[in-house]
Amino acid sequence: MWIEVVEADITRLEVDAIVNAAAPALLGGGGVDGAIHRAAGPRLLEACRALPEVSPGVRCPVGEVRLTPGFELPARYVIHTVGPIWRGGNQGEAAELAACYRHAVRVATGLELTSIAFPAISCGVYGYPIAAASAVAVAVIRATLARELSITLCCYNAETASALRHALVT
Ligand code: APR
Repeated sequence: MWIEVVEADITRLEVDAIVNAAAPALLGGGGVDGAIHRAAGPRLLEACRALPEVSPGVRCPVGEVRLTPGFELPARYVIHTVGPIWRGGNQGEAAELAACYRHAVRVATGLELTSIAFPAISCGVYGYPIAAASAVAVAVIRATLARELSITLCCYNAETASALRHALVT
């Protein structure tokens, strides 16, 4: 397994799958979610709408993942996940965030993909502190047995990249 930290726009990455930090409705939003929908084109929203609701307004509960094609993206697939909203750190957020990474890696290995890129799930609008989130991401990825998978941690700013690089060497 190969792990790298890059500063980039995730919608430009030529990987098998990119992960989207979405909202439970999976109908788009701001941040990385908005960027992915814009770059993938309108068929992505149609594909998301077609996914069943598991409860009113919820197509993907927190910590779970849903798969769609990447449409106009260079990536073949989008693995949508919903990270936790930061509520102080004692409400199970770390376990929920870990589940996002674990389930996304599981889907990627199930499809026999060789490369996947993650954004800093929950670290924008959802308010998860970057250092704590980086520690969770790195711990889950290190624990994965997906030897064939190359994992890109894609950051949109230098602060996130530095937190992830720190987590990788500790
Ligand atoms: N490429 C890579 N990373 C990006 C990009 C991009 N194009 N755009 C934003 N980011 C980064 C942000 O800088 C942040 O570090 O993605 C990280 C996650 O931030 P958000 O997109 O705000 O995601 P999150 O905190 O999980 O909040 C999810 O925001 O957009 C809505 O619909 C989404 O309601 C959901 C919520």
